[in-house]
Amino acid sequence: MQDVTDLAFMRTLARIGSLPDLFVTAYFRSTPTTCAIAEANLRCIEENETGVPILAQLAGSEPAPLVRDAERLLQLPIAGINLNAGCPSPLVNRHGAGAGLLRDLPTLRACLQGLRAIVPHGQFSVKCRTGWAAADEFPAILAEIAAATPDLAMVHGRTRKALYSPGTVQPETIRQAVTALNCPVLGNGDITTLPQARHWLTHICPAGIMIGRGAVRNPYLFRQLRGGAAPTDDDMHHYFAVLVEETNLILHTKRTAAGHCNRMKKYLAFCYNYFTPEQEYALRRCTDISDMQRILSTVSAPADSGQN
Ligand SMILES: Cc1cc2nc3c(=O)[nH]c(=O)nc-3n(C[C@H](O)[C@H](O)[C@H](O)COP(=O)(O)O)c2cc1C
Repeated sequence: MQDVTDLAFMRTLARIGSLPDLFVTAYFRSTPTTCAIAEANLRCIEENETGVPILAQLAGSEPAPLVRDAERLLQLPIAGINLNAGCPSPLVNRHGAGAGLLRDLPTLRACLQGLRAIVPHGQFSVKCRTGWAAADEFPAILAEIAAATPDLAMVHGRTRKALYSPGTVQPETIRQAVTALNCPVLGNGDITTLPQARHWLTHICPAGIMIGRGAVRNPYLFRQLRGGAAPTDDDMHHYFAVLVEETNLILHTKRTAAGHCNRMKKYLAFCYNYFTPEQEYALRRCTDISDMQRILSTVSAPADSGQN
């Protein structure tokens, strides 16, 4: 997630001892004219000292630029290439990329086949939503994905039309993908607690799950999934203190006090729902990083993070 699950966040997970098995970069935008190898994404790859493999994600709608950029990225220390067929941004979709690929199956096919042809065995994956407007589009999308024989697929169980609306994840679509594809399928969408994560792993997608916003909200989920302890209030204070330090390092020369606060707010956007209204109010208005740190040292762990 651009500017959220970035190098600072990855390093923070390593320092707090709660790491996933795999990272995926935010998408590199691949177009005929630009090879938008975004610096922040590149740093996630080149400075990844977490020990966790990372996939480089590409968003595009033309095979040739995707292949060109994948070949370049494959020179870097990555575990593979991931094609983004899920981004709902109008800016991206206008050019047919991201979830835009889901309403143009010949283009989806060409992009999948083009990448499959050059990405080594074991290193090609695709991340998709379940359709553009409705999940009844999903079987045809899955047929295209299956034909390209990816090595891994991640399914965000929403259509593009559903954007991020609460209550719109359809777990049965993940089961559909598990049945239709000959590769491991990671289920994704609104997993925020340990019981939910366990439920998905047991009943929906045994190969694995992908957690985005839920991991920013409670980064100790990975530790919990490995049998470790639920976060205490002190753990959460430690998390935010480390994140402040790591964002400071990432921003280094470009940082201003307000800029540092604004950067922290990109993560806090996914945490406000368990802060008190007073804490949220103060944090949203904060322009001084010391004030921000002081407030963050008073928050409680999410009430739903303690269930095992
Ligand atoms: C701010 C933001 C940025 C995102 N950027 C990407 C991205 O670059 N690539 C991608 O595959 N998904 C991206 N996503 C989608 C997430 O990976 C994920 O599929 C979605 O948020 C649902 O999962 P979650 O509920 O666990 O967050 C982004 C989501 C958000 C909120």
